[in-house]
This record gives sequence, structure tokens and C-alpha cells, in this order.
Amino acid sequence: MSNINRRVPDVDQYIPLNDPPIGSAFPADIFPQNTKLPKLFQPITLRGVTFKNRIWVSPMCQYSSDNGHATDWHFVHIGGFATRGVGAICMEATAVVPEGRISPEDAGLWTDSQMEPLKRIVNFAHSQGTLIGVQLAHAGRKASTLAPWVHSSFGGTRRATTWTSKEDEGGWPNGVYAPSEVAFSPDYPTPKAMDDAYLQYVEDAFVKTVERCKEIGFDFIELHGAHGYLLHEFVSPLSNLRTDQYGGSLENRLRWPLRVISRCREAWSKPLFVRISATDWAEGPEKGPDGEWKQWGIEQSKIFLEEMQNLGVDLVDCSTGGNWVKQKITVGPGYQVPFAEELKKAYPEFPIGAVGMITEPEQAESYLQDGKADVVFLARELLRNPHWPLFAARKLGAAVKPANQYERAFADLLVPKSA
Ligand SMILES: Cc1cc2nc3c(=O)[nH]c(=O)nc-3n(C[C@H](O)[C@H](O)[C@H](O)COP(=O)(O)O)c2cc1C
Repeated sequence: MSNINRRVPDVDQYIPLNDPPIGSAFPADIFPQNTKLPKLFQPITLRGVTFKNRIWVSPMCQYSSDNGHATDWHFVHIGGFATRGVGAICMEATAVVPEGRISPEDAGLWTDSQMEPLKRIVNFAHSQGTLIGVQLAHAGRKASTLAPWVHSSFGGTRRATTWTSKEDEGGWPNGVYAPSEVAFSPDYPTPKAMDDAYLQYVEDAFVKTVERCKEIGFDFIELHGAHGYLLHEFVSPLSNLRTDQYGGSLENRLRWPLRVISRCREAWSKPLFVRISATDWAEGPEKGPDGEWKQWGIEQSKIFLEEMQNLGVDLVDCSTGGNWVKQKITVGPGYQVPFAEELKKAYPEFPIGAVGMITEPEQAESYLQDGKADVVFLARELLRNPHWPLFAARKLGAAVKPANQYERAFADLLVPKSA
């Protein structure tokens, strides 16, 4: 056996090879403690792509892009996850057209110059053996708003009078589009209703962006159909008041989002995910006594999921809310998991991601063990502790590979123990 420090092949600089990849379980014949491997560390294969574990980075806007271009902030932020053992990274909501950004500093992929900085990030993630995808989005009526820390300070010492980002603040409040001319709240821009030409333009923009994703080398794409952004606005009766073929009945409300999904599916051969909000959390029932759908909810989500399954979507990432300003959410550990579970019960074979206040390894593991979801997406907990996968391995008694360079900090994970 040679003592050469092996390098990652086909990379333009020396990067030590991790074998097995960071965040994957060591073989059980050498590490008997892995004989009964926690589900979190069991690989999952979707559309022929094997994800090394089931701890995935949830998409997180950084409000740090330079005219839609990723910067060194993104390289370090995303690179940090790539070196710390997550099974996949979903990069933040990335706009397919400039007016589809949430804030002026949001990420975009509407033009070719935005590819280069993303390629650098993707190549680095790959050099660390980590799969990486991107969430493609259009913010709809929630576009042209202020970055959260610009809007208000956490201490409450400063608060803007509105969420709307005006022209002299980099915003485009008169160029905001949605299914109907209904603002999210008086604090938000009043959108223009999308006409046929604009619908076609956005649909085509999604496809063009998918083509750029191919060139960049992303491993998967997630379409943002949640949190009150454009696709969610179409499916929900609270934000879609159209009277044409794209509004009214559930079939009509699903029509355009399904067309976008279908076109992206046709253009993209790798795994395709969709994030949905499984409820609007508005007052009253999902369906009224008159048989009309009153708000978006789990029953319509199931029908939506079935349609997506028919189109060849590979996973639904189940979130909630964001489309109704007076939403009342009972927040607590795993508060959105019951929705993932409902979808899983309805379609046991269909892969589902759970998200929302999943912070403890035992908690995350129980959702997978109980069949409530197939993978977990973590957001804030990974910001607090990017090493979470290795901490989870330690807590659950699994032997999992840290980065070569960090092995001395996780020496206990490298010791074979009896099962
Ligand atoms: C800083 C930050 C940015 C976020 N940006 C996005 C985003 O771009 N797309 C999205 O679907 N969700 C976004 N979210 C929501 C998270 O992906 C996640 O669903 C939510 O925070 C709940 O998970 P958690 O309790 O693990 O943080 C964001 C959350 C945070 C904290």
C-alpha cells in the first residue's frame, strides 16, 4: 500500500480525497457498531442518484448576492456544509427572472454570467463528495421586499415602515407579478395579474434556467412551490382569484404550476424535487360546507402530489404556510412533520422530505424510523452547528467519516466498537 496522500481526481488543485466520503457510514465489517445503522445514515437513491445520507441542507436565502450572482459568501457558507457531512445541499431560492427575486440581494440564474460563481461552488461540493442542488423560484407577489435585517433589527430597535423595497432601494414594486392583483398585505407591493404572455415567459424562463443548471453540474433541482411564492400563489384559493383556465377549480389552479413542473421535468433528467406548503394555516376548514375549497390544505396537497408523481417528480419537500398574512401556526419541534406523515400515509412509496424545527438526532431519526418521511431537511440548526451530521452520528452511536482534516476533532467516530 502506498503512503501517498491521495487527491481528488480531475480537480485543478490538490484536495485530499475522503474515502469513504464525508458523512457516510464506515463499513460494518470493520465498524460493528454500524451493523444496525441509523436511518439518517442509510443512503437513499432517487432517479439513480445515491445520496450518502438523509440529512439535507434546507434552502436558505442569504440576501447576499451581487445582482443575482453568488459571491465568496456563498462559497464559504455552502462550502462549509460540503465539508461537514450532509447528504445533500439545496442552495437557496434562486430566481428564474430578475423580478422573481424576493429581495434585491437574492440569488438568480436568469443570465449566463450567474453560472460561473455557482460552478465554483458546485465543483467544490463535488470535490468533498457532497451532492448539491438548487431551489428554482419566482417570488410572485412577495417579490421586491427588503432583506429581513434591513426591515428590522431583532432587538426591535429599528423597524422599516413597510416590507416593500422601493426603486431607490433596489426594488421594483411596480413590476411585481402574481396570479391576481391581491397584495400579500398592505406592507407588500400590489402585484399585476399575469397575462398569457407573462405566464409563457416565466414558464420558458424556468426551462432556460434548468438548462443553465445542467451546464453548472447541479445534481438535483428543487422547484419552490411553497411559502406564498408564485407556484403556491397559483394553487391556493386565497391568492388565486382568476376566472380563466388557471383559477377557480382545483384542476384550474393546479394547471399552470403543473405545466411548469412538467416542462422542467422534460428538460432535466436528474432528480427533481418540489417544495410545497401543505397548508395555508388560515382560519376555518380547507373545504367549506358548500363543497368549495376555502384555503390550501393537506387534502389538495395530496391531489397535487399525485399529479406530480404522474409527471415524474422524485420527492416532495413538505413545508407549510407563508401565503396568508394572518396565518396562525402552532410552532414547536417537528411542527410540520404531521403534514409529511399525511402525505406519506397517502402515498407510502413516494419519497417525502420533512422540515421545520428538527434539531435533535433522536427526533430526526424517529421520523425516518416511523416512516413519516424519507429524508430530513435542516435549516437553522445547521446554521448553528454545521457539524450536526457528525454530532448526530456520535449521539446515535454510528461511525461516520469526518473530513480528513477534521478527524482529530472526531476521533471517537473512528474507533470500531462492538454492536
Ligand atoms: C435564513 C433562512 C433563509 C431561508 N430561505 C429559504 C429559501 O430560500 N427557500 C425555502 O424554501 N425556505 C427558506 N427558508 C426556510 C427553511 O428552508 C426551513 O424550511 C425553515 O427554516 C424551517 O426549518 P428549520 O426549523 O430547520 O429552520 C429559510 C430559512 C432561513 C432560516
